[in-house]
Order: sequence, then C-alpha cells, then structure tokens
Amino acid sequence: MTNNLQELVNQINKRLEELQYGTEPKELYDPIRYIMSLGGKRLRPVLVLLAYRLFKEDHDQIIDQAIAVEVFHNFTLMHDDIMDEAPLRRGKETVHEKWNESTAILSGDVMMVKAYDLIIQADANLKQIMKDFNECAAGVCEGQQMDMNFEDLPTVSEEQYINMIRLKTAVLLGFSLKLGAMLANATEAEANALYKFGVDIGIGFQLKDDLLDVYADQARFGKQVGGDIISNKKTFLLLKALELANEEQSTNLNNWIDQSAFDPKEKVEAVRGIYDEIGIYDLTLGKMNEYFQKGFEALKKIEVAEENKKPLIEFAEYLINRDK
Ligand code: IPE
Ligand code: IPE
Ligand code: MG
Ligand code: MG
Ligand code: MG
Repeated sequence: MTNNLQELVNQINKRLEELQYGTEPKELYDPIRYIMSLGGKRLRPVLVLLAYRLFKEDHDQIIDQAIAVEVFHNFTLMHDDIMDEAPLRRGKETVHEKWNESTAILSGDVMMVKAYDLIIQADANLKQIMKDFNECAAGVCEGQQMDMNFEDLPTVSEEQYINMIRLKTAVLLGFSLKLGAMLANATEAEANALYKFGVDIGIGFQLKDDLLDVYADQARFGKQVGGDIISNKKTFLLLKALELANEEQSTNLNNWIDQSAFDPKEKVEAVRGIYDEIGIYDLTLGKMNEYFQKGFEALKKIEVAEENKKPLIEFAEYLINRDK
C-alpha cells in the first residue's frame, strides 16, 4: 500500500479505536470490539475517503460515515464465518468459535444498527444515502444466499457466479465510492460512474479472494486456506475446473465433491492438484484482470482531473497485487 493510502488507513484506525459500540451486556459488545480490533485492510472506508477527495479536501469531516461501511462489512464477516463454518479470521479465532453462534448472530445484528448510527450523521443527501445503503445491504444478503445455494448445485454458469459475487461483495465497494461522492455533493452522474468503477473492481477483488483461498500463504492470509474447497464453494476456480476437466479429472473432482467424510487436508491438496493440471491459477488471474480493466475504463469516463484519480488507480493496483 502506498504511503498516502496508509495515511488514510491510519486515520480510520485511530477513529475506530475510539468507538465503544456499547457496554452491557458485555457478551453482546465484546465480540464487536474483538472483531474490529483484529485489523483488516480497511478497504471500504478508504474508498469512501478516496471518492470524497476527488471533489473535496476536508475528508476528516466524514470519517464516521466512512467507518459505517467498515462496521457493516465486519457484521457481514461475523455472519459469513458462521455460514462458512470458518475457524479463522485475520489470523485469530472467529467470533462463533471464541464465543458461540448465538453470540455471533446477535452481535452481528447490533453491528448493523451501529453502522446505521454512524451513517445517519451525513447531512448531505441523507435520504438518497439511506436508500442506496439499504439496496446495497439487501444485495449483500441476496448474494450470500446465492453463495450458500450454489454449494449444493453440481455446478453454476460463469454468469451466475459473477452475479453472485457482484451482490455479495462488489456492490459494497461500489456503494462505498458512491457514498464518498454523495457526501461531497458530486453530481449523480459522477456518483454513478464511481459506483460502476467500484462494482467492476469489486468483482476483480472477489476473484482474487477466491484465488487466495486456494493458493495463499496461510500465515499471511489469516483465513483457513482451502476453506472454499472443503465446503464445495462454486468459486470461479471450481466452475472452470468442472468445465475444462478431462474425463479422469472430472471423475476425481466430482468424487471429492460428493464425499461427505474426508480428510480436509487431503481434499484440499487433491483439488488444488487438479486445478494445477488444468491451469486454473492463470485463468482466474486473467478473469480478475478483465474486471480490473473494466474498472479502469469506467474511471476514465469520470470527468475530474486525471491527476486526482491517481490514488484510486494505486488503490486498484494494490488490490490486484495483494497477497492477503
Ligand atoms: C473479505 O474482505 C470478505 C470479502 C468480501 C472477500 P476483506 O479482504 O476486505 O477483509 P478484511 O476486512 O481486510 O479482513
Ligand atoms: C464473503 O465472501 C462476502 C461477504 C462477507 C459478504 P467469502 O466468504 O469469500 O469471504 P471470506 O473469504 O470468508 O472473507
Ligand atoms: Mg467466508
Ligand atoms: Mg462466504
Ligand atoms: Mg473468500
């Protein structure tokens, strides 16, 4: 991450450290402070600030609204980890493992409310902001349900997959940018163009997440490598492998998918081996680059000085190259 981006992350983290969320009962609020303190890249609030800074310089006025999307994001992670039966988040135990599922559900619920508390501090365009936030939040839930439904399907089309990740992941990146633009009183056309840029790079971002889930270095990644393979997630990697496998690879892959009792490590290694034979790594990178390129095209169409767009381009490049 460049120094300028890191500076924004530091500002966000400083404000996050001040937030208490609530006190009693502590079983409700401790998990919130816990997940929020585990770090995380703070990508979405940075996007809010970067979009705002395209139009205005006093971004310290909107830190709380930027943080609203980070609190919302962490709420989705808390529930996502229950749904995905994930043991690790940011290198630490997930909330439902450290406490229990009921705690993770209710703490997550109240985080959503806390996100509302933060975002309604907006004075510019509040009604439109709430409308867009709600549409985004419902979209995330739709995407998350599709993600779960797809686990039980033999395969899905690329189109179905892209639509699912657009909803579960990309619309929140789009909304973050649009929020920054709306808070800066940008025109509707500018705000919508930034939203499109966000959705395109958001799709690229989730493709990279799927890739890292199979190929990342466990210590850096902070999540369980191979989790998607274990739960038969219809990631781009799996659906391409199912599409391109020869007869033998296809039989092997489907055997692993159908197996209900297996050694997780063995399954992950075997499926990764099939991916390697087929060249899935490069295919996924190619698809990821396609969406980032689309994003860069969308950014070109926004009529602000090219110089001002540099931080957004650096941000997208950081997403392309990230290893966690
Ligand atoms: C993880 O998001 C969830 C996805 C949408 C892939 P991040 O990769 O932004 O996670 P943190 O916040 O940095 O931990
Ligand atoms: C989650 O996608 C997207 C949301 C949290 C809405 P993943 O399930 O791939 O996210 P990770 O990999 O657990 O962070
Ligand atoms: Mg998950
Ligand atoms: Mg998930
Ligand atoms: Mg993932």
